Amino acid sequence: MLESRPDNMERITTEEQANEFIADQIEKMQAQIGDKKVLLALSGGVDSSVVAALLIKAVGHQLVCVHVNHGLLRKGEPEQVIDVFGKELGANLVYVDATDRFLDKLAGVTDPEQKRKIIGGEFIEVFAEEARKLDGIEFLAQGTIWPDILESDAGIKAHHNAGGLPEDMNFELVEPVRILFKDEVRVVGKALGLPDNMVYRQPFPGPGLGVRCPGAITRDRLEAVRESDAILREEFEKNGLAGKVWQYFTVVPDFKSTGVKDGKRTFDWPCIIRAINTTDVMEVTVEHLSNELIDHLVNRIITEVPGINRVLFDYTPKPPATVEYE
Ligand code: XMP
Repeated sequence: MLESRPDNMERITTEEQANEFIADQIEKMQAQIGDKKVLLALSGGVDSSVVAALLIKAVGHQLVCVHVNHGLLRKGEPEQVIDVFGKELGANLVYVDATDRFLDKLAGVTDPEQKRKIIGGEFIEVFAEEARKLDGIEFLAQGTIWPDILESDAGIKAHHNAGGLPEDMNFELVEPVRILFKDEVRVVGKALGLPDNMVYRQPFPGPGLGVRCPGAITRDRLEAVRESDAILREEFEKNGLAGKVWQYFTVVPDFKSTGVKDGKRTFDWPCIIRAINTTDVMEVTVEHLSNELIDHLVNRIITEVPGINRVLFDYTPKPPATVEYE
């Protein structure tokens, strides 16, 4: 019996409302789960992090969190999941570094949709393998939110029930944030004491940095994406743009151009910066950065990121360009 958002439900905007919601959900989850075990795929994104924090409060070690590192996460993300959930909150956390497995499967694959399929399929496989190793799991927790339900009812987006797990894995669902809108999930996450950079995190696609390394992914080019993204995020944070700009990231395309460094010819990749604003992601405008910030970013990226000799800025709105490059 999955909950629907009551028509008269007030929007959760304050800590007090969040605490009320938390207390209510804890009671409901305890009644649903009893003394059984629950499994959760913890990506470190806002929704799954809030679900994990709620379940830790409700059922403690009956929750098993599985964090799959597919090798396409941003710099510092797997470490933060281990620190926050494994160490600070004392969660029962299984960390799987499946980087080699994903990158081996992706080697030489150039088609964007094929890349997405491999990443999604492999993710489910790794997660199911971990689930099979565990005894007595009866529930699967998911970070489904209310817009997911609305979109799937409207036929816009197929909602991934049970995360697309094999049919023999018959878990009952636990969805403690399913009646919330995204902004409410953040208020609840804040009230639960999760770090700001987790709660106010910008959207990040499931296939991760894989779609920002266009064409066949190689480890060195992927590393250039990861390092340049980390520099961009650090500079946005320092300049008060994090949390204000909707989404910002770097892309390292699969072509090289000539450059010169220390009097010698180089032949390296360009790094493209994309920074955009939107409300619904259907239409997107470009965030114009100051000349000073652009100069500083160019300087840091070309000096600190191996393999990059040129920095470009993407001034294209959506439409015609999508947010991601693949
Ligand atoms: P596009 O590129 O379609 O992106 O303009 C719109 C928003 O969706 C995100 N995005 C994805 N999210 N899996 C995801 O979970 C995906 O395959 C995917 N592709 C794009 C993108 O980051 C942007 O916020």
